[in-house]
Amino acid sequence: MLRNIKGTKDLLPNDTIIWRWAESKIHNIMISYGYGEIRTPVFENTELFIRGIGNETDIVSKEMFSWTDQSKKNLTLRPELTAPVVRAYIQHNMQSLGPITKLYYFDSLFRRERPQAGRQRQFHQYGVEAIGSEFPEQDAEVISIAYNIYKNFQINDLSVRINSIGSSSVRKNYLKKLRESLAKYKSFFSPISQNRLETNALRLFDSKNPEDQKILNENAPFIFDYISDEDLEHFNQLIKILKAMNIPFYHDKKLVRGLDYYTRTTFEITSKKLGAQDALCGGGRYDKLIEQLGGKNTPAVGFAAGVERLLMIIDHNIIKPQKSINIYISILGEKILPNAMSIIQDLRNLNNLSIKIETNRRSLKAQMREANRQNSDFVIIIGENEINNDLIIVKDMINSNQTEMPLNDLKHFFQKNLNK
Ligand code: HAM
Repeated sequence: MLRNIKGTKDLLPNDTIIWRWAESKIHNIMISYGYGEIRTPVFENTELFIRGIGNETDIVSKEMFSWTDQSKKNLTLRPELTAPVVRAYIQHNMQSLGPITKLYYFDSLFRRERPQAGRQRQFHQYGVEAIGSEFPEQDAEVISIAYNIYKNFQINDLSVRINSIGSSSVRKNYLKKLRESLAKYKSFFSPISQNRLETNALRLFDSKNPEDQKILNENAPFIFDYISDEDLEHFNQLIKILKAMNIPFYHDKKLVRGLDYYTRTTFEITSKKLGAQDALCGGGRYDKLIEQLGGKNTPAVGFAAGVERLLMIIDHNIIKPQKSINIYISILGEKILPNAMSIIQDLRNLNNLSIKIETNRRSLKAQMREANRQNSDFVIIIGENEINNDLIIVKDMINSNQTEMPLNDLKHFFQKNLNK
């Protein structure tokens, strides 16, 4: 049997009802913050991610789905959305529309990670990118969007961790100190970490190897202790605003995040309910990325959240998909099919009706059984006799009342029921 690829998932009708409900809540919240939706292509030039995310990151070094096409172009399925959004921002000269551009997305991504609960190879993220402000109130707004979305989904078991990794100018000094303090342990590190110690020492913190982590915990200085006075001022102001906004957080000096583009603020929200993959969302400032990808020097901050992880911890009792009236149409007799279909066509002009029609020409009994199985609120029975007399039968499945009414009254009948 042909099966879906490991780490991908089919969403069946019972799942997509929940997805649509969650998705529409998220769209509404993003719009309430004044963010505009952006959709970028599923694949991009590989170079965008190498230059944007960084060669030594886990994502670029081992998790990208990349290929060379017939004209020798190196292409990659997007493993994240910040670099594509920045590419689009530069390409469409969006800064000409105003000094601040606030964008959000809800899309699918691809990473070749080892699949496990909460970790897939095709997954979905919603997120925001606020491009154009260097000020801490913009960081606070971004963090509050992430936080408020979970609150809106009634998720309370949240832990917000925040840090500052400083502006890029302080990195050189810190990395020198980091290498010096770890040099004598080099041979104890895993081969990947030994390499990273030379090439991109900040990425040492991404190692999942317990031995590497132990050496780091005991010997590595915190980058936070090396940030500049301006960076510290930015961080302190951010903290002040978050406190005023009643967003509980914890300053985690170890939080450096696994992508190279971050400067200053980094943050993550986790939930114990998730298990090993406990990150609900992550983000931060990336003041150098726009310039690095060929745009003007422009500050920016954003976050992205895993949709699958959100849905894993939602209490299913709060899910309320949009209600519509379910109608099953029973058609009795081949001859009247064109008339029946034209009546149905007319009914479809009413909103919020979900109309299913019998297309298997089964007996009335079997059709009623099907209507029950489909949880129908009403069954409309269209028979030859009724058609000849411009009548129609409507059965209320909740109280089993059956009414015969003039065909002309049918729309009005459902309109009345919709307004109840
Ligand atoms: P990230 O931390 O790589 O950040 O991903 C953000 C979130 O996506 C994670 O916290 C997690 O919920 C979800 N996620 C990541 N990988 C997987 C996976 N394999 N399966 C399921 N969910 C996953 C970014 O992507 C940055 N672009 C965030 C950002 C936006 N920074 C600034 N702006």
